[in-house]
This record gives sequence, C-alpha cells and structure tokens, in this order.
Amino acid sequence: MMLIKALTTADIPALLSIETVANRYPWTEGVFTSCFGSQYFNFGIFANDQLLGFYFGQFIAIESQLFNICIRRDQQGNGLGGKLLTHFIAQSEQREATEAWLEVRASNVSAINLYTKLGFIEAGRRPNYYSSAGGKEDAIMMCLPLRFSN
Ligand SMILES: CC(C)(COP(=O)(O)OP(=O)(O)OC[C@H]1O[C@@H](n2cnc3c(N)ncnc32)[C@H](O)[C@@H]1OP(=O)(O)O)[C@@H](O)C(=O)NCCC(=O)NCCS
Repeated sequence: MMLIKALTTADIPALLSIETVANRYPWTEGVFTSCFGSQYFNFGIFANDQLLGFYFGQFIAIESQLFNICIRRDQQGNGLGGKLLTHFIAQSEQREATEAWLEVRASNVSAINLYTKLGFIEAGRRPNYYSSAGGKEDAIMMCLPLRFSN
C-alpha cells in the first residue's frame, strides 16, 4: 500500500540514494540536512516502508516553494510524481499560500510537463542560470495561483 508521510532526517540516506541516481544534478547530504526546519514541509511516498519518491517544500509568509521533487528512477512514469505534486499543492493550500512557485531547468521536459499538467504557468526566465553539460541553460520560474489569492 502506498503512503505519503512527512520525512525526517533519518530518511536522508534513502533520499540520497534516490536523488543521486535519478537527478543529473543531485542535492548533497548537506543540502538535504539544511532543508529540515519549521519553514519546510517535506514528504515521501512509501510502499511497504520503502521510499519511492519525495518532495521538499517551503512556506514563507504567503507563498510556498517547491525545492525538489524526485521519483526513484525505476518508479518513474507510474503517476507518483503527479501524486506528490498534488500533495504539495494541497499542503500549500492548507497553509493558505496565495501562490506556489518553483524553478526548473529549461531542458527538463518531463518535469515541465508534470508542472504544466497540474496548472503551473511559466512566470519568468533566468537566462543561463544553471551550469549544464553543454555550458549553461535557462531556469524557468513557474507559478500556480491558489485559492487564497483572492
Ligand atoms: C519529473 C518527475 C518527478 C516526474 O515524476 P513521474 O512519477 O515520472 O511522473 P508521472 O508518472 O506522475 O507523470 C505525470 C506527468 O509528467 C509528465 N511526464 C512524466 N514523465 C515524462 C516523460 N518521460 N516525458 C514527458 N513527460 C513526462 C507527463 O505530463 C505526465 O503526465 P501524463 O502521464 O498524463 O503524460 C520524475 O521524472 C523525476 O523524478 N525526474 C528526476 C528528478 C527531477 O528532474 N525533478 C524535477 C526537478 S527538481
């Protein structure tokens, strides 16, 4: 049975093992460790206590930010990313966020499709923001207006 539950620092080894395989530009242990605290809401999707994917969110003042979302490579394409992003949006609404924001590499078509499918729209670009294999690539900033924005 699948279960989405809050992550703790005890999950960092499992987070790292998913992140280093699935993400071409993985977070380090130090980054994971620094992203726990009262401003953060971080959840994992588990099956039989095995972590299959996760997201890291932050809520400050009136906005939420999606800092990372990643699905174990052999579990991608099965709807888990959609489930976690839906959970992130619901958590943002629970906190009465007016908008949810994220940044994504322009080359990350799977992620951009996922975000667009759930209503995020491109709100801006930072040209040549990220280093990449080919040199530099743009960051696309995406925004989802939430129901507390009125
Ligand atoms: C991006 C990611 C989270 C998507 O998770 P996922 O579980 O594979 O995605 P889902 O199965 O829930 O698919 C949801 C939607 O995402 C898009 N998508 C997913 N995989 C895709 C692919 N290979 N090509 C194009 N679009 C894709 C589609 O819009 C899809 O909807 P559809 O099935 O109706 O077409 C996953 O690929 C991943 O972990 N990537 C590596 C880490 C990463 O890049 N994270 C985002 C930046 S921090």
